[in-house]
Amino acid sequence: MYLTRIIYCSELASEANKDFIINEDIISNILAVSRRNNAINNISGMLLYSGNYFLQCLEGSRLDVNKTYNRILLDIRHNNAILLEYGEIIQRDFSAWNMGYAGGSDIKEIIQAYSVGSDFSPYYMSGKSALNLLKALKNIAS
Ligand SMILES: Cc1cc2nc3c(=O)[nH]c(=O)nc-3n(C[C@H](O)[C@H](O)[C@H](O)COP(=O)(O)O)c2cc1C
Repeated sequence: MYLTRIIYCSELASEANKDFIINEDIISNILAVSRRNNAINNISGMLLYSGNYFLQCLEGSRLDVNKTYNRILLDIRHNNAILLEYGEIIQRDFSAWNMGYAGGSDIKEIIQAYSVGSDFSPYYMSGKSALNLLKALKNIAS
């Protein structure tokens, strides 16, 4: 089965995005479920959450990456998902994480280096730039 990578971005659903406490709960729930499922499916990856945007990379077998992505697309906690990159890869970049996470003020400076304007938006990023940003978060990801 080919080793495959998907990178997509999306936005936190609007009914949830004004409440900091709710956001924190949503992120911890997403991470707990992701880590459990991804460990079973041999999926590795990285999730960034900043300014109401998600940016996520999933890597693993083509079948499992597609199944997981299709499941994620149905999740009502986010919307407007856009595929930034999809393809075969020769090696994983995030093998140490079933789902690494970076977000909040810790990543503002790194994000700035990859942003066109003063506000971060993954919708304006190339797939390659998105991958490089996620790789740059490896040192601070939990
Ligand atoms: C931004 C975002 C990222 C997610 N990432 C993953 C993931 O990497 N793996 C996963 O299994 N579920 C992920 N989910 C959760 C799925 O949408 C879905 O709720 C979950 O897979 C259902 O798992 P369950 O059937 O075991 O409860 C994510 C959801 C969101 C909103």
